[in-house]
Amino acid sequence: MLDVKKIREDFPIYKNHESDEKPFVYLDSAATTLKPKCVIDACTKYYAEDGANAHRGDYDLAYKVDKEVSKCREHIASFFNCDKECVVFTSGTSMAMNLVAYGFGIKYLKEGDEILLTEAEHASNVLPRFRVAEETKATIKYIPLDENGRCTPENLKKVITKNTKVVSIAQITNVLGYKIDIKEMSKIAHEYGAYLVCDGAQSAPHMKIDLKDLDVDFFCCSAHKLLGPTGIGFLYGKYELLLKMDPFMTGGGDNARFDMCGNVAYLKPPAKFEGGTMNLAGIYGFDAALTYLENIGMENINKHEEELRDYLITELRKLDNVIIYNEDADSGIITINVKGVFPQDEASYLNSKGISVRSGEHCAKLLKERLKTFGTVRISLYLYNDIHDMDILIDALKNGGNFLDAFFN
Ligand code: ALA
Repeated sequence: MLDVKKIREDFPIYKNHESDEKPFVYLDSAATTLKPKCVIDACTKYYAEDGANAHRGDYDLAYKVDKEVSKCREHIASFFNCDKECVVFTSGTSMAMNLVAYGFGIKYLKEGDEILLTEAEHASNVLPRFRVAEETKATIKYIPLDENGRCTPENLKKVITKNTKVVSIAQITNVLGYKIDIKEMSKIAHEYGAYLVCDGAQSAPHMKIDLKDLDVDFFCCSAHKLLGPTGIGFLYGKYELLLKMDPFMTGGGDNARFDMCGNVAYLKPPAKFEGGTMNLAGIYGFDAALTYLENIGMENINKHEEELRDYLITELRKLDNVIIYNEDADSGIITINVKGVFPQDEASYLNSKGISVRSGEHCAKLLKERLKTFGTVRISLYLYNDIHDMDILIDALKNGGNFLDAFFN
């Protein structure tokens, strides 16, 4: 296991909550992660030392910022094994997903084409595809999930047809935490001439990702889920697809010239998609987050989370009052309910014990039919969690009965 005591020294939030009356047990990293000091410092460095805009100024500070933006882009490319020209900065996964939908889907899909999703997808994958279907008259279809709620290559084969143009799925789903075999899904999609769009929001923070090996057409990711700042992320697209795509948002920095008749010459990707001033402090912080993760090692992070998850699931199984929806989760996302307790009430009770978890539908609103519940409590782990956090949670779940009864009395 990782040396969590040492890791926590890097995260000022732990020190800042040391004197709280209740413990500080953060178990909502699938929503967003805590930030190490190096990331906070990198964002501050932008504001305190460099401060200029990128790609616009002919002076030293602007040149420094340009260099940092290129450095971060190159870092993302080496971290995820892809070419730097294929990395488009966005505000996060949702914007990246929308960029694919508006820049590619609306341009190239037509009536009769099919888009494949699953019921386990997050709103940021589903809603942009609904818009594409609405605009183009393409049809949305769902890859059936297996009995546990997993999306498998076998089930993709059952529904994919020559009319399928886009398969859009998460590599790790945000409620059940299942890891999808994206490489195989991509291979199947390509055999049918379809494009594979991968939502990497929940996978990128937790596992080594090799985009060339996965051979996905598009990949979307947010920095804030991998220790970086909010408001920054990226879209990876195969270069030939980025060349064909339209920008979703246009503005300064994405074009070479335009005239009064409305003729515009856009720059080549990725600049073509980066109109307007980007989140530059976010880019500095994103770069620092990747360095931090590299220093710890993605394999070590993954192993740490697996060990914690196994421990937690073993302990949760001992509690008669707890329903676990994904005992076989492949990631650090564990979704539960306490029998007879409304999930939001459970989360409020856990909060009273210093434990932060997410409750509700987790933006995956198609999943409730499958789970046969209107909501759940989601526990999500990361490198700064330890066994002690798990014990505090288990203890709270064990001893919450009287408190919870009070809600109903
Ligand atoms: N998509 C994030 C989550 O699952 C916000 O919580």
